[in-house]
Amino acid sequence: MQDVAESQAALEGVLKDEILRMYQEIADDPSADFHFYHGREAAELFGYEAQALDSVPDGAVASFAGVGNPHLRANIQHGETVLDLGSGAGMDAILAAHEVGPNGSVIGIDMNPVMCRKAEEHAEEVGATIECRQAPMETLPVNDNSVDLVISNGVINLSFRKRRVIEELYRIAKPGGRLSITDIVSGKQLSQNIVNDPKLWAS
Ligand SMILES: C[S@@+](CC[C@H](N)C(=O)[O-])C[C@H]1O[C@@H](n2cnc3c(N)ncnc32)[C@H](O)[C@@H]1O
Repeated sequence: MQDVAESQAALEGVLKDEILRMYQEIADDPSADFHFYHGREAAELFGYEAQALDSVPDGAVASFAGVGNPHLRANIQHGETVLDLGSGAGMDAILAAHEVGPNGSVIGIDMNPVMCRKAEEHAEEVGATIECRQAPMETLPVNDNSVDLVISNGVINLSFRKRRVIEELYRIAKPGGRLSITDIVSGKQLSQNIVNDPKLWAS
C-alpha cells in the first residue's frame, strides 16, 4: 500500500514539473510546435469572436491553451466576482474582466508564478485588472461563499485530485453561484501507459 502511495506521489511530482514546463513554454514561445491546438487558431475554432480576441493583447491570445470556450455559457454580469481556475497567460481572465467592468473583479489562479505575472501584465496592457493568486487548484486561497462564477478552460483534467478541486469550487461559490467549465473527459478508462506518461497527461 505504501509503495502505491509513494509511486503515486512521485508521479504527481513529475507531472507537476511537466505541466509547469509545458504551459510556460507555450507562453514563452507560442510559435513553437505543439501537438495540440493553441493560440488564436484554437480560440477561433472554439467560437471566441474576433472582436473579443482583438480586445486582448496578442501575447495572451498567442499563448491561449484552452480546450473550449467557457464564456459561451457563463453569462457574466457587470459587478460580478469571477474566478478563472488555471488562468495561464490571461486570455480568459481578461475577457471576463472586460465583462464584469469596474465594479466587478476577476481572480486568476495559477500554480506557476511566471504565468501569474504574465496574466497580470497582459491585463494591464489593455487597462483591465485581474489579481492572479499563485496557488494549486486543489487548495484555493479564496474565502468561502465569495465567488459568483468560476470559469475554467482545460485545467481540471490536469489534476491528480479532481474530486478535491470540485469540492474547493463548491466551497468558494456563493449560494446560487455558477460554474462554467470546459475540459477533457474520457468515457473509457485510459490505459496505464497514458496515465503514467507525464507528457500526455500534461497536454
Ligand atoms: C490550459 S492552461 C489555461 C488556459 C487559460 N484559461 C488561457 O486563457 O490561456 C493551463 C494553466 O493551468 C495551470 N495549472 C495546471 N495545473 C495546475 C494546478 N494544479 N493548480 C493551479 N494551476 C494549474 C498551468 O500552470 C497553466 O498555466
